[in-house]
Amino acid sequence: MSERLVVIGSQWGDEGKGKITDYFACRADMVVRYQGGNNAGHSVMFNGHKYSLQSIPSGIFNPNTVNVMGNGMVVNPESVLVELQRLHDQGVTDYQLFISDRAAMVMPWHSALDGAYESLKGGKLIGTTKKGIGPAYCDKYSRSGLRMGDLLEPEYFAERLKAAVEEKNMELAMLGLPTFDFQQVYDRYMEIAAILGPRIVDTSDLINKALISDKKILFEGAQGMMLCIDHGTYPFVTSSTPSSASVPVGAGISPKWIDNVVGVAKAYCTRVGEGPFPTELFDEISHEIRERGHEYGTVTGRPRRVGWFDAVVARYTSRLAGIDNWALMLFDVLSGLDKVRICTHYELDGKIVDTPPSTISKLARCKPVYVELDGWKEDITGVKSFDELPDNAKAYVRKIEELTGVPVGVISVGPDRTQTILISEKLKNF
Ligand code: GDP
Ligand code: IMO
Ligand code: MG
Repeated sequence: MSERLVVIGSQWGDEGKGKITDYFACRADMVVRYQGGNNAGHSVMFNGHKYSLQSIPSGIFNPNTVNVMGNGMVVNPESVLVELQRLHDQGVTDYQLFISDRAAMVMPWHSALDGAYESLKGGKLIGTTKKGIGPAYCDKYSRSGLRMGDLLEPEYFAERLKAAVEEKNMELAMLGLPTFDFQQVYDRYMEIAAILGPRIVDTSDLINKALISDKKILFEGAQGMMLCIDHGTYPFVTSSTPSSASVPVGAGISPKWIDNVVGVAKAYCTRVGEGPFPTELFDEISHEIRERGHEYGTVTGRPRRVGWFDAVVARYTSRLAGIDNWALMLFDVLSGLDKVRICTHYELDGKIVDTPPSTISKLARCKPVYVELDGWKEDITGVKSFDELPDNAKAYVRKIEELTGVPVGVISVGPDRTQTILISEKLKNF
């Protein structure tokens, strides 16, 4: 019986982590976000309603689930307020939410700097979400950042804020950007403290108490492994580690607790923003998949780039994150294609490679080697079990398992909570 479950993105983000987290959150006592911030856009759909979350955990729809924004996140309190208001407007009013006192805070200058750093790169944009995530993590690691818990001590907060405003105004002025007035920022953050203050607690203590009481805890990753600051397609990555490996640090628990990891993977691949993408498609099929899968970013509305399922990436991410099961998402989107392809290896400068190279210059030269399978025409959006799937769809799933060495534990055949086929016994027991 597993009481902990980590849900991570195993490609370039937007794999369907929100849907899978919400699906399991119905049985979880606690859902914890442990990295990233409001650069994430997690969609959840049930009872005919669609919800979009940026920094709030996807367990928020279950009133019995305690939702935690962990210390490894960068929290934009203004954005949290906007999200809470939006949830409220959609009728979500009964929830439990706590924010770590040690979480780094995204300040108003971070998004301005995010945009400015991008324009300094000239033609070589990363294509960030411009939410200030990179600059906020930079300040955390350069030890000049502010943390959510600082809001609870007004005098200490004032002292830290004064230093930060002074430092940032110099940088903003150099970049020709508007500067900030200490008093205005201070007054606004004290208003925020009055609203969010009761939710700001020592979340590591909260989570550990739940762990030792055998509560069911789900850790919800944001972004995807190929956007990892260490293992992703650097520098076209985000500024955190979306892996299961960052759960212990980002939630404040021992690594010994992690024993059940679901790698969320689309049945194909998408990427939003710049950077190499070996299986990217530029033909009619990519257009078809983009329209059928509504492949447009939830945060920025940008069209997502589309490509075939990449087993090289899947093997790599499963090795890095210890993935026990795949949650294979948007499987319905592939229905109707004559042929479907899976990338088995790359060819790099005349040699076959089976793991991604470290530099994007080499990755950009990697040519995908494919296995081609027959497609299926049937609509599978109402399918409730693996056995009911068309034979060719089953063969596609089996090929992914064979090429990655990891079983497919969940298959998603539509955005709704109910359009989920649960196969894995380990996951049934969560
Ligand atoms: P996340 O960032 O990993 O949570 O993923 P996003 O929510 O950004 O993007 C996934 C998109 O696919 C959302 O619009 C979901 O509603 C949708 N979705 C999730 N699972 C399925 C599925 O099985 N089929 C279809 N057609 N759409 C899905
Ligand atoms: P979810 O959790 C997809 C991408 C951006 C950009 C790069 C860096 O919804 O899967 P950042 O703003 O983080 O500095 O941008 O990372 N990116 C995502 N792409 N899904 C996400 O989150 C992403 N979060 C960041 O598009 O290429
Ligand atoms: Mg998303």
